[in-house]
Amino acid sequence: MAKNKRVLVLHGPNLNLLGRRQPEIYGRITLDQINKKIRAVARELRVQVEIRQSNHEGELLTWVQESATQFGALVINAGAYTHSSIALRDALMDAGIPAIEVHLSNIYKREEFRKRSLIAESVIGQISGFGVHSYLLGLRAAVEYL
Ligand code: DQA
Repeated sequence: MAKNKRVLVLHGPNLNLLGRRQPEIYGRITLDQINKKIRAVARELRVQVEIRQSNHEGELLTWVQESATQFGALVINAGAYTHSSIALRDALMDAGIPAIEVHLSNIYKREEFRKRSLIAESVIGQISGFGVHSYLLGLRAAVEYL
C-alpha cells in the first residue's frame, strides 16, 4: 500500500502493562483492546495502520527515524519518554513526518514533571486525557495530514 495510506502508531514504555497498571489513572483497558479499536478506526478510514510498542528509547528512536520512508503520518504515545527524551524530540524534528502526540491521561492534571512535554514542539498537536479516544482522535487527526 502507498506510503500516504499508512500510519504508524507507537506506544512507549510501560504501555504494555495497561489493564493492571494504575487503573485509577489509565482504566482497565489493555493494550490489545486499544489496538483493536485503533484497527477498527483505521478500517473505517481506509488506511493501513502499523502498531508497535517498545520499552526501549533507542528502538523507538530507530522507528521514528525510519518512519518517513514508509509511513505518511505517525501517532505516538511516548509514555514517560515524553518528559525526558531530548533524543526522541530530535528524532521527531528530523523525521519530517506529520506526528500527533497522544496521552491516555491528562498530563496537565497530574504531577508537575508530567506537565512538560519535550516532544510537543516536534509534533503537529497533542491529544491528552481522553483514554483510548486520545488514540482514536489522534488517528483521525493523522489521517488529515496524509
Ligand atoms: C502517558 C502519560 C505519561 O506521563 C506516563 O509516563 C505514561 C502514560 C499517558 O498516556 O497518559 O506512561 O503517556
